[in-house]
Amino acid sequence: MAPISLLVATLLATTASSAFEYNTFDGPGFPSCYNVSRVHDATSVDDMAAVVRAAAQSGSRVRAAGKGHMWYDTQCSDDWTVLVRTENVARISDLDLPAGADSGSVWVEAGVTFFQLAGYLHARGASVGYTLTNWNISFGGSVAMGAHRSSLREDSMVAAGVLAMDIIDGRGEVRRVVRDEGNDEWLAASTSLGLLGIIARIKLRVYPDTKVYAKQATLDEKDVLDGDIYGMIAPYATANFWASNSPWWPYKRKFHHRYYDTVPANSTAQEGFQNTFSVTELEAIAARTMLDSGKYLPTSNMLAEEIFFGLWSKPNFREKTTNKEIKEWPVYGWNYDVLIGGLYPDQKAEWEYGLAGYTLELAFPVTMANKMLKRVRQLFDAELKKGIVMTSTYRSGINIKFGKAYFDFLGQVTYNTADGADWSKGAIMFDFPSFRPTVGDHKRFNEQFYHKVANTLIDEFPCRPHWTKNTREVFDRSAKNLDPDHLRRFKAVRERFDPQGIYRNVIGEILGFY
Ligand SMILES: Cc1cc2nc3c(=O)[nH]c(=O)nc-3n(C[C@H](O)[C@H](O)[C@H](O)COP(=O)(O)OP(=O)(O)OC[C@H]3O[C@@H](n4cnc5c(N)ncnc54)[C@H](O)[C@@H]3O)c2cc1C
Ligand SMILES: *[C@@H]1O[C@H](CO)[C@@H](O)[C@H](O)[C@H]1NC(C)=O
Ligand SMILES: *[C@@H]1O[C@H](CO)[C@@H](O)[C@H](O)[C@H]1NC(C)=O
Ligand SMILES: *[C@@H]1O[C@H](CO)[C@@H](O)[C@H](O)[C@H]1NC(C)=O
Repeated sequence: MAPISLLVATLLATTASSAFEYNTFDGPGFPSCYNVSRVHDATSVDDMAAVVRAAAQSGSRVRAAGKGHMWYDTQCSDDWTVLVRTENVARISDLDLPAGADSGSVWVEAGVTFFQLAGYLHARGASVGYTLTNWNISFGGSVAMGAHRSSLREDSMVAAGVLAMDIIDGRGEVRRVVRDEGNDEWLAASTSLGLLGIIARIKLRVYPDTKVYAKQATLDEKDVLDGDIYGMIAPYATANFWASNSPWWPYKRKFHHRYYDTVPANSTAQEGFQNTFSVTELEAIAARTMLDSGKYLPTSNMLAEEIFFGLWSKPNFREKTTNKEIKEWPVYGWNYDVLIGGLYPDQKAEWEYGLAGYTLELAFPVTMANKMLKRVRQLFDAELKKGIVMTSTYRSGINIKFGKAYFDFLGQVTYNTADGADWSKGAIMFDFPSFRPTVGDHKRFNEQFYHKVANTLIDEFPCRPHWTKNTREVFDRSAKNLDPDHLRRFKAVRERFDPQGIYRNVIGEILGFY
């Protein structure tokens, strides 16, 4: 064994008896893994490969850890696991975008975040286009878990922007997988759930930087539920019903319809910067107090939805150069700043003030969008008939997003599946976050309603789960909706990359890969 492997093996042996929990971005009380023997802060791709080789020899399990931006206890299996943190493996190199070209490419290492890459590219007149997620999330973690933005017109799965990737397999060897829809290795790697190995480097497509506008309209619920939903989304570069997305406000019976598209860079001097998650301490305390009381009193939730709806009707943007609030739609600015943005300098993310959430996210064929939303409305109304008022308890409402069809084995927007549903027009995602009370048993007001919504949708629709925004129960129940042939072909690739199954996690177990 190389000295480093010996060192790692020793550490594994000495710390395994005191396994500990590892947490999501929400911190203590929000475990993503229950049985972590050690967290290794990786320093390079070679260093990660050495740790994997040592773990494979000692029979330990391994999972990559990015920025912890996942919701539930589904990162690992429940057996001893070494976590390899990618945060410091974050080099950006080989930007290739010749003047006048429509697109080019760049290599990023696993731990590079959207934030870091956006800054790097903007300074060099480039952007990644629409294959985006929120700011403090790693490319490795997003590609592994099938993360996406919202668009029916443009590719919006992060993986759709990937041209090639280097994966550290279960023996610690680095394998390059290049985009090729005729190759099962690519189709598995494209959404791998980290089960093929640690994604170490990614080659991404880039584009010349653009300015974009953001606009928002408020719609009556009936105009969406009975409307041409496809037609409201497909014309735009990115659009949805929430903020960097657009929300549904079920108590107010309103939707916010947010949409974006490009404008000539020289047409505006404005540099709008969006914030979706930052709040002041005062706002956070007020919201937490109100929503905690909403665990018992629905009137508090009704008031909260009124306030959030009002806040969300105004642009959640500031002018980047002056940090001044922008008060009118449309808002203009550079691609990444407008589509995603980040935190305002004088504020923190809501979860840093103890505002934590539960969530559920399912994808449906967009051809079933009206039927699905109406079914959810029926479920809300059934509660109302019993005298129970249900609301959105999340600051940015119920997120409704969309995804252009993109073919791979485990992606949420794949098509040609055995369910016979028409996924070729793309998908609508129902993302139902809700406040997790900080008090008592942490259950929500009328807790069983949330489970009823999940179970009804999973049983009545050919819907698929987002891979980091659902509970183990939701993965268990929705596994029946996945294409058996895709699962079989994925498993065959998994067995070639990781014959010992060192990268297994609970999702892979539920899907029958072990
Ligand atoms: C505030 C917030 C906003 C979000 N916005 C969006 C959104 O707009 N769209 C969307 O689709 N999702 C969104 N997400 C979900 C997020 O994109 C995913 O959970 C993503 O996987 C998190 O990446 P991470 O770097 O934080 O990884 P972690 O949370 O650390 O890890 C997530 C999973 O990926 C695995 N993993 C991490 N890195 C690698 C790697 N290099 N190789 C192999 N496996 C790896 C881990 O083992 C784990 O199973 C959001 C989450 C939060 C908290
Ligand atoms: C990003 O995540 C890291 C944890 O990995 C955290 O320390 C940091 O504060 C976060 N940054 C922002 C801007 O939220
Ligand atoms: C952790 O995993 C080990 C071995 O895989 C097992 O014996 C132990 O019971 C697990 N501990 C917990 C807390 O799950
Ligand atoms: C903006 O740029 C375009 C193309 O580069 C050019 O044709 C146009 O005249 C410019 N407009 C202004 C207002 O400068």
